[in-house]
Amino acid sequence: MTNHITLGEYIIENQNDFQYSSGELSSLLSSIKLAAKVVNHEVNKAGLVDILGNAGNTNIQGEDQQKLDIYANNVFMKTLIDRDIVCGVASEEEDDFVIIGGKKQTHDHKYIVLMDPLDGSSNIDVNVSVGTIFSIYRRISPLGTPVTQEDFLQAGNMQVAAGYVVYGTSTMLVYTTGNGVNGFTLNPALGVFYLSHPNMKFPKDGKIYSINEGYYIHFPQGVKDYLKYCQEEEDNRPYTSRYIGSLVSDFHRNMIKGGIYMYPTSSKAPQGKLRLLYECNPIAFLAEQADGWASDGYKRILEIKPTELHQRVPIFVGSKNMVEKAEEFMANYPKDAKY
Ligand code: AHG
Ligand code: MN
Ligand code: MN
Repeated sequence: MTNHITLGEYIIENQNDFQYSSGELSSLLSSIKLAAKVVNHEVNKAGLVDILGNAGNTNIQGEDQQKLDIYANNVFMKTLIDRDIVCGVASEEEDDFVIIGGKKQTHDHKYIVLMDPLDGSSNIDVNVSVGTIFSIYRRISPLGTPVTQEDFLQAGNMQVAAGYVVYGTSTMLVYTTGNGVNGFTLNPALGVFYLSHPNMKFPKDGKIYSINEGYYIHFPQGVKDYLKYCQEEEDNRPYTSRYIGSLVSDFHRNMIKGGIYMYPTSSKAPQGKLRLLYECNPIAFLAEQADGWASDGYKRILEIKPTELHQRVPIFVGSKNMVEKAEEFMANYPKDAKY
């Protein structure tokens, strides 16, 4: 290893780049780092202990929760609450946002966190990578009062930080505070994240497209046309198809190699599947910070004004030229066209 900068050192060193810095965001990122290590430890043990399978509950979106979903949610919630560092958290696994008054119940912290504690959890029992996605905003309600829904329904372009942890062949934490994207790899023997991927950038063009093509028949015509374009024998095409079914892993690979990830609307899922607040916004912020682009097919993800906590949106994210090409195909049909 030629680079020995740790995540802890990096957070402190770069604290001053952040215009509103008071150290609170640094402590918050350190809490996320800690929770990520705890979840990593548990995810890695998944094959050894009898922890797999369904917890028997169903979350607000009607999806089955895996045990590790709940575990990861609890670890992140508890870590953030115990550190007395945020004024509220919203999670894919919670029905509503959680108000955190702090030890003295003074509601005087300024940041909120939104998260998908375990993304791609259906992949756990087949030993495929999963992830955690997080998104951080400054509250807009006054300090000293409980956070409100409005604090959580800010457009993605108001994020102050976002990132993900990928529990893969190596465990990595990748994040941005609006000054580019940096990736840190965990040395599991030491429990230390080292800066391994400084200044990550999407190649402008790529050769990978990632989509659940099994739903082809249900996709809008613009998506079908774009997929045919990806498969044509021309210029540097046909592209390669790669779909893990784990957004974090698909996005991570595409950022390094160049590619596009798509989860469009379909006649079966008219709003798409992925959640704006827990998945699309943080991923879009990272994409833009890495010179990529994120669109709902027609407009910039980060400019969508959320209307509800668990809102879903279609997403096209990745190498800028590829996403723009997909948008060109989408623009040939009106947004509300029948499938
Ligand atoms: P989650 O495990 O948090 O519910 O999210 C899974 C997401 C995403 O990671 C993945 O790309 C997509 O759902 C896969 O959906 P399909 O199985 O419909 O392709
Ligand atoms: Mn998810
Ligand atoms: Mn999840």
